[in-house]
Amino acid sequence: MSDWTRAITRGRNDNALRCKATVSEASLRLTALVWMVLIGLLAPGLGLAQSNESSIRFDKETHVFRIDAAAMSYVLGINEKKQVQTLYWGKRLSMADTFAAPHSDPGSSSFDPSINTTRQEFVAWGGGLYVEPDLKVTFPDGNRDLVLQYASHTIDGARLTLLLKDISREVYVELQYEADGTTGILRRSAQVQNRTTSPLTIEQVASGTWNLPRGTNYRLRYLTGRWAGEWNLHEQWIQPGKTILESRRGSTGDQNNPWFAIDRNGSNDQDSGDVWFGALGWSGSWQMSIEQDQLQQVRVTGGPNSFDFGYRLAPGEHMQTPYFYAGYSHDGIGGASRLLHRFELSSILPHAPNPKLRPVLYNSWEATEFKVDVAGQEVLAEKAASIGVERFVVDDGWFGQRATDRAGLGDWYVNPVKFPHGLKPLIDKVHSLGMDFGLWVEPEMVNPDSDLYRKHPDWVLNFTGRPRSEGRNQLMLNLARPDVREYVYQFLDKLLNENDIAFLKWDYNRNWSEPGWPAVAPEDQKKVYITYMQNLYSILEELRAKHPAVEIESCSGGGSRVDLGIMRYTDEVWPSDNTDAFDRLLMQDGFTYAYAPGVMMAWVTDSPTWVNQRTLSLEYRFLSSMQGSLGNRNSIGGSASCHYVRLPALQSDALSLPAYLPSWIEAGCRVPDRSARRQALVRHPCRCEWHLLDAARCRCGSARRLPRRRLYVRDGRALERFSSGCGATEALGPVGRSMAAGASCGDLGSAMCLASWYPLLYRKVLKYSQQKAYGRTSTQPRWR
Ligand code: GLA
Repeated sequence: MSDWTRAITRGRNDNALRCKATVSEASLRLTALVWMVLIGLLAPGLGLAQSNESSIRFDKETHVFRIDAAAMSYVLGINEKKQVQTLYWGKRLSMADTFAAPHSDPGSSSFDPSINTTRQEFVAWGGGLYVEPDLKVTFPDGNRDLVLQYASHTIDGARLTLLLKDISREVYVELQYEADGTTGILRRSAQVQNRTTSPLTIEQVASGTWNLPRGTNYRLRYLTGRWAGEWNLHEQWIQPGKTILESRRGSTGDQNNPWFAIDRNGSNDQDSGDVWFGALGWSGSWQMSIEQDQLQQVRVTGGPNSFDFGYRLAPGEHMQTPYFYAGYSHDGIGGASRLLHRFELSSILPHAPNPKLRPVLYNSWEATEFKVDVAGQEVLAEKAASIGVERFVVDDGWFGQRATDRAGLGDWYVNPVKFPHGLKPLIDKVHSLGMDFGLWVEPEMVNPDSDLYRKHPDWVLNFTGRPRSEGRNQLMLNLARPDVREYVYQFLDKLLNENDIAFLKWDYNRNWSEPGWPAVAPEDQKKVYITYMQNLYSILEELRAKHPAVEIESCSGGGSRVDLGIMRYTDEVWPSDNTDAFDRLLMQDGFTYAYAPGVMMAWVTDSPTWVNQRTLSLEYRFLSSMQGSLGNRNSIGGSASCHYVRLPALQSDALSLPAYLPSWIEAGCRVPDRSARRQALVRHPCRCEWHLLDAARCRCGSARRLPRRRLYVRDGRALERFSSGCGATEALGPVGRSMAAGASCGDLGSAMCLASWYPLLYRKVLKYSQQKAYGRTSTQPRWR
């Protein structure tokens, strides 16, 4: 039993039972039966009622705060040293569970004083702290000691704010908690306030620390990757010491993604077991420390990366940390993913809680690369429209002197040779074909060979007199500068004002180097890590407010900027430049541990794939892309004789459905582990919830309970029914349309529908999966 559960005192009163001892046994049995039936009938309803509420209570006598939300409880309290101490985080407690007044841990020896062994929610570096601090500051007089104590609190609905203050100086920290009643996910952030009369420098700051129950048998899951090989799931036992997940690159990066999940006892179960998970909402350099100390205490501390960090806080100023979201699932790693997915759809995405269904998209990149012009794009647009595409996107190459990746970035005027009359004729054509129009931009970058750089060489990140390292022949604009922020906002606003653009693919194709900001005082230059991101978010926010119909994709040479920070401003994300349908299966699997498949763009591209020359059938490519939001960026060859592909309606024989089907909906569908993967493809991998139009809920794991009706909800939204018969074209709803981007559908043979091929396709996929190792075989791309 963990010491947290021991801390719970249960106030049970068994007198009531004794009073009834005279009642006859038979009538007792009958009463029990009636109650059991009633509870059986009411329990699901009660469960639902509980799952949508959150409450925060404060016990004045014990100084304990209790947050209950969905199936989770989180309890913290103020101990006798006025430290904010974690008391419990896990499965929802009953109302009968109460907590005694918290008391700090005495410490284990002179080497491990109390401040280290007491589980604190937010601890500053001072007073002999050796574990990862949440805050470290330096004062101008040389003092670096900071000891925070509880000062006051407020509770406002689902929000709890605790104010802490240093023992002697006017430095305050506001700890902010917000509970999501639907998922039990908590959002935490800290605000550091300098109310002294002189500046101080923040050298390290976190959004907070998540303390797990003391124990040794924890396992960490996290995501790693590289360009064209993103979203690899890693698992490791948490050992004494520290694991740091991080990016020092100025942006999210794909080497680690800011997500973690920790389970206990090594359970591979998708559906049961304790899992604590979390994700940082930050698109700049970040870090998460997962630390197990010598007393088997596991804590997760996360926020901006402390490497090269320094934020000077003037008197009267405050600094707000990014949001750190975390939740608890009693339903295994699958349950944890589903909670995150639901939370993203209901609370993070710009249109939450009703994010729009992604349209079927065509993108020119792999067909034309930089060779875009009005005539060529019109031909592609006609082909795209003829196969049911809903959004036509012109990728890189339409602006400035952009003939290769060596020039033009930063010069956001329409290239007069490629588009002599501007973009309007093409946009009109695209509209006349019934599609909306999208455009690629990379606003934060500049090529040295550009008018912008020639005019403003000081606008890039740089250290005076030092080399400026290029990546893909480009430099980073310093978006922290007010003039750069203004330039970027203005050109985007103008582009959207002057053209009927429904969608921006916002790209970002390198990481930072030489992150200097010579225009400000040396002691303020490191603020670039924060100010840059604040300006990026504010540009996106302003643009969205001014152009509410415009949708945005976050792309970073693939999936290098996918996180809960950027997702608050973008409708979809691009997971990888690797569009090989086989490689994508694992990537998409990794992606859906943390992020909802509904935002994951997945394109059908030409075969052999440019990235590794692998040849795959069109059926295979479609099946793979159907996991996410189907897109297309091939050269649209073939006779396109089959305009619609469709699926058989879901029947009770769900066991025969491939693994891919369920991931159209809110939850990613995954298999328990790598070794079981192939088997699971054959057996039944589905552990996801199916949200049906009638709001019923069931698991595809139990085929019996699957309804036969043909109405589904994808990403929380209604899907329309689709026909199971080959040949009929009516009743194609959003999914039907998203299935309709069968670009080279002619490859399948005239008038053949995917539905009729389904069992065959499945066997093919399976065979292929069994033959190949799940390795990455990417070669270097042509354009790098
Ligand atoms: C990035 C994107 C690609 C494409 C190119 C264009 O790599 O990930 O999809 O847009 O840039 O230069």
